[in-house]
Amino acid sequence: MKKLLLFYLLIFAATSIIISFNGCSEVQEDLITAQEIGTHPYGWIYQGDMNFHGKYLYNYRQYNLIVCKQCHGNDYNGGVSGKTCFTCHLSSPEDCRLCHGDGSTTIYPPKALNGETSGSYIGVGTHPAHMTRDTGKRISLPVRCVACHVKLSSFEDNVHIGANPDNIAEVVFDSLSVTTTNDTTPNPIWNRNTLTCSGTYCHGNFKNGNFRLQTPNYQDPVWNNPMSSACGSCHGNPQSGNPMPGGTHPQNFSTCFCHSSVINTQLQFINRAKHINGIVNYQE
Ligand code: HEC
Ligand code: HEC
Ligand code: HEC
Ligand code: HEC
Ligand code: HEC
Repeated sequence: MKKLLLFYLLIFAATSIIISFNGCSEVQEDLITAQEIGTHPYGWIYQGDMNFHGKYLYNYRQYNLIVCKQCHGNDYNGGVSGKTCFTCHLSSPEDCRLCHGDGSTTIYPPKALNGETSGSYIGVGTHPAHMTRDTGKRISLPVRCVACHVKLSSFEDNVHIGANPDNIAEVVFDSLSVTTTNDTTPNPIWNRNTLTCSGTYCHGNFKNGNFRLQTPNYQDPVWNNPMSSACGSCHGNPQSGNPMPGGTHPQNFSTCFCHSSVINTQLQFINRAKHINGIVNYQE
């Protein structure tokens, strides 16, 4: 009799476990359907809240805003919901500065899509160093987005966010990055694991550039380390003693006087527009 009771107890325990496991998967299904939008959750309009719409757009990769337009209208002016986005947003939610950039003047990170503003984060990196408007901090004209990203015609362009966004920017090198000079043909490659760019025109793959030197740190700048692209890393620097690479370039000068339209004898730039512009400016 006791044995039979134990048997029933065991069966009861086993079925309870099965039922609770099913229960779990039901909850999970609920979680998945929760990302479809009906009425918005509490906190939807409060920045900093876990349910804030900016967070939702990032977490559920809805940055193409297609789902929002269904109810709020293609012009974001209310649509069937009757609630316009312009109550709070002074410009269109498609304004580049809203998702990228500092919100006012720049259209490039910082901030990154997840809100990160630190240069050590991959989504921020050295964007500012490449494009800052502060001329004192640049050694060339601002680098254009198309040097590293595909050209966009508008927010809705398929190559921008697309129908299935992954929240990762595509890096596609073109224009300046692939400039061919005399004996060199750049072959730029972006490595997401090491955060390095190799083979770009800009960082050494040009006539008399450092592409001939195999020393690590030369020509393979690290995206989140501005120091990896110091003077002398892309080409020789007579002041630091970093030698000019081989080839036909004359060696052992204390200044770069042949390039006097670009720098003076103290190696200070007099015309940044001529530096890293795709042309080796020689005596003009
Ligand atoms: C199924 C229809 C629907 C979809 C899809 C939808 N919304 Fe809404 N939204 C509404 C309705 C209805 C309201 C007004 C009622 C409310 O506040 O819940 C609203 C209100 C809002 C508000 C508050 C407006 C205010 O003035 O207080 C914001 C912000 C908002 N939606 C943003 C979004 C964003 C961002 C998306 C895309 C991720 C989106 N909505 C998708 C229907 C929708
Ligand atoms: C009640 C005010 C309010 C309304 C209404 C509102 N937003 Fe926002 N939204 C904000 C605030 C605040 C931010 C944060 C701004 C910032 O990061 O600089 C924001 C940020 C965003 C962002 C950027 C998210 C990010 O990750 O940086 C997008 C995109 C956006 N809103 C879309 C919409 C859309 C689409 C609508 C209309 C359907 C809408 N918002 C309506 C207040 C609002
Ligand atoms: C020198 C090369 C370079 C230039 C120029 C450049 N970017 Fe980027 N960008 C990158 C790299 C590298 C990444 C990181 C890609 C990754 O995550 O794999 C990136 C990432 C991004 C991201 C994603 C941020 C995130 O949160 O993940 C955006 C948005 C972006 N860039 C916009 C721009 C815009 C807009 C411009 C022009 C104003 C621009 N970039 C110019 C190299 C560049
Ligand atoms: C609502 C948010 C949002 C707005 C507004 C926005 N973007 Fe983006 N952008 C993204 C996301 C998300 C990505 C990452 C693409 C992905 O997921 O594949 C991205 C990526 C990029 C990239 C990297 C290259 C690429 O296509 O992956 C560039 C450049 C860029 N955006 C430029 C712009 C410009 C220029 C504008 C203004 C016309 C703009 N963005 C407006 C969300 C936005
Ligand atoms: C990010 C890589 C990089 C760094 C760092 C760099 N240069 Fe250059 N430099 C280039 C490239 C690329 C060229 C090839 C010609 C061109 O496109 O201007 C060049 C060419 C030159 C020239 C030849 C004239 C010309 O055509 O521009 C001078 C002079 C020069 N650099 C000076 C300097 C000085 C001085 C520094 C340090 C303050 C420096 N460079 C740092 C990339 C770099």
